[in-house]
Amino acid sequence: MVARVDRVLREKLGLPDGLADGRVVVLDPCCGTGAFLVEVLHRIAGTLREKGEEALLAHEIKRAAMERVFGFELLTAPFVVAHLQIGALIQQLGGDFAKNERAGIYLTNALTGWEPPSKPKTFLFPEFKEEIDAADHVKRDTRILVILGNPPYNGFAGIAIGEERRLTTAYRDPIDPRLARPQGQGLNELYVRFYRMAERRIINQTNKGLVCFISNYSWLDGLSHPVMRERFLSEFDEITIDCLNGDKYRTGKVTPEGKPDPSVFSTESNREGIQVGTAIALLLRSQSHNAPATVYFRDLWGTAKHAELALEAQTGNTAHHQSIAPKLDLGLIFRPTNTSADYISWPLLTELFPVSFPGIKTSRDSVVVDIDRDRLEARMKMYFDPKVSFDELNKIMPEATSTTGGFDAKNIRSYLLGRGYTSEYIWKYLYRPFDVRWLYWEQKAKLLDRARTEARVHHTQDNLWLEARQNSQWKPLIEAM
Ligand SMILES: C[S@@+](CC[C@H](N)C(=O)[O-])C[C@H]1O[C@@H](n2cnc3c(N)ncnc32)[C@H](O)[C@@H]1O
Repeated sequence: MVARVDRVLREKLGLPDGLADGRVVVLDPCCGTGAFLVEVLHRIAGTLREKGEEALLAHEIKRAAMERVFGFELLTAPFVVAHLQIGALIQQLGGDFAKNERAGIYLTNALTGWEPPSKPKTFLFPEFKEEIDAADHVKRDTRILVILGNPPYNGFAGIAIGEERRLTTAYRDPIDPRLARPQGQGLNELYVRFYRMAERRIINQTNKGLVCFISNYSWLDGLSHPVMRERFLSEFDEITIDCLNGDKYRTGKVTPEGKPDPSVFSTESNREGIQVGTAIALLLRSQSHNAPATVYFRDLWGTAKHAELALEAQTGNTAHHQSIAPKLDLGLIFRPTNTSADYISWPLLTELFPVSFPGIKTSRDSVVVDIDRDRLEARMKMYFDPKVSFDELNKIMPEATSTTGGFDAKNIRSYLLGRGYTSEYIWKYLYRPFDVRWLYWEQKAKLLDRARTEARVHHTQDNLWLEARQNSQWKPLIEAM
């Protein structure tokens, strides 16, 4: 990634020394232990060596680490390691930080603090204030040209508030009203906030530069991300995607030829790496901005992709990317599509199936699901037995007595005790493919989860149905008895 960034700076932004140009300010907003920052400094050192500036190397690299190669990190442990790594690199080159000097790596939340606060902050320790002031100075006053990194992978980061919330607001309303609006929860993923923070910083403050992230690749074609893609097309000039696949959910970590396709983050001790598929995206904004951006895409598959990328970083020869033209009707997806030309004129599923409703979701599986019908029946009868107190039940089936959001365990039990056990609610149930189980599908209370009565009426012995889903993930189906 760092080699690619260096090349793009030279070839597309008119900076012949690339990262070694003293005007290039770099930020890794989620720098962890500092791997990217160290690589950036190595790259700068390489260029300076090529230029015969060996004598000043330690001084120049230290200056870069202090003044223009910045990192943000939220956690103290990786933050400390990142400082150690930069310090070690400078020592290797024969330099050292003086007492009042430090690398430009700050302990801060990268997603906030980009706007001045409405009221002054108060601090328990003056050191915190110094740290935050220094980070805020980078956020607000520095002309950052390159933002690169590996944003965190927390699937669902929770509902953002305040400044963080406003970050993803920009990805909610389409510029073109014909574009599909975002669906689902994908915009709540933490990495999306990092993209927006980086995009906003490069576009609004520097007005040229590049963002290069390796992240979850769900944004390339996700139903939650059409507006994010629309913005990127209008704000950047060139978007280059290296799709690294390795997705447990979409492909089962198997190549189209059926060979192993581990994540690019796989290691000897963790051969599969992380679960989600990943992609490297390089988004370039040039001074003479020309929208919409051209999108280039390539797939990398299999066990050799890491080595392929490493070789490309050394040689500078990147294999061919294909240019793709994202289509508005398909949600501007950033992947090649192999749909037929008239695909868009086909009837929509919602026209063919005018009525739709959510299917069943099982919660409390240890209570309401079993492979053995008699065992399930005995357990449910125990649940409905007024002689079994709530406390006793808690010891036998704790899931039935634990209150969770939307499930008031005590109230539901007392209501159901009044109503009594209903044998017709036991159903044969396809829990997973080829995994038939039995289910107590309570209809009057949320024992299962939501009762889903609208789905239940279709589960009869003689009914067949087709089920359509938005993605390929398998969820339980109900089989009629
Ligand atoms: C996938 S890791 C990046 C690893 C990194 N490239 C390295 O060399 O170690 C993501 C990092 O982002 C940090 N992080 C998560 N949320 C953050 C935030 N809001 N601001 C700054 N850092 C954050 C995590 O603590 C974690 O270290």
